Amino acid sequence: TDRTPLIAGNWKMNLDHLQAIAFVQKLAWTLKDAGHDYRDTEVALFPPFTDLRSVQTLVAADKYDLVYGGQDLSAQDSGAYTGEISGAFLAALDAKYVIIGHSERRSYHNETDEVVAAKVKAALRHGLVPVICVGETAEDLEKHGPSAVPVGQLRVALEGVPADADIVVAYEPVWAIGSGQAATPEQAQQVAGALRALLGELLSADAAAATRILYGGSVKANNIAGFLREPDVDGALVGGASLDLAEFASIVRFKK
Ligand code: G3H
Repeated sequence: TDRTPLIAGNWKMNLDHLQAIAFVQKLAWTLKDAGHDYRDTEVALFPPFTDLRSVQTLVAADKYDLVYGGQDLSAQDSGAYTGEISGAFLAALDAKYVIIGHSERRSYHNETDEVVAAKVKAALRHGLVPVICVGETAEDLEKHGPSAVPVGQLRVALEGVPADADIVVAYEPVWAIGSGQAATPEQAQQVAGALRALLGELLSADAAAATRILYGGSVKANNIAGFLREPDVDGALVGGASLDLAEFASIVRFKK
């Protein structure tokens, strides 16, 4: 399989557009100085919506190989949906990816698996690659074991998704997000393996082999290598550590 590792930085509600410009520039320079080859590890940033136009302009002008995307999108394409952002707008800014179903959207904005599924289809309509987030709470883990909840979430999210769709799956145990308590590589592998099996069942063997599955939840420079050594973990969705330039650059430059 040729699943190029993907390191994704989800800034959440941090960095305004001026801070974004400074950060992206410094990150691109740092990675260039380090001799980073983006064909070895892809780097994607997920800034707030209000930063995306600035990031697009900078990346295009300076020909950076970084890619970027939105942290969410509307399930609708246009119309009277105050405050929402269409996938068409993200595509018009050359966004490659869009995060869908992050646990913070699920818990603070009541996004159900059905809403997530509608957003995945919206992303695909606009040529965006959805980064579909799934993950269990500590309570789920105790009640249902490690894989049942994330697998159930992905099953609904993939309803009606064509077998050849370009997607990314992110496994983020809710108990590991922002807690400093990352899952172990073995835990991440167990769930990633179950998610990959589901891709095979619902999409195709090719899709299962080609789709990147990320781990997210307290990923740092000092634990990334362990996750990337697991056969079914193809990268990371990084929150807090993506805001620290040196730390994030070290995660991108992980050594196996
Ligand atoms: O999207 C990123 C995840 O929520 C992980 O956040 O790295 O701060 O734990 P964290």
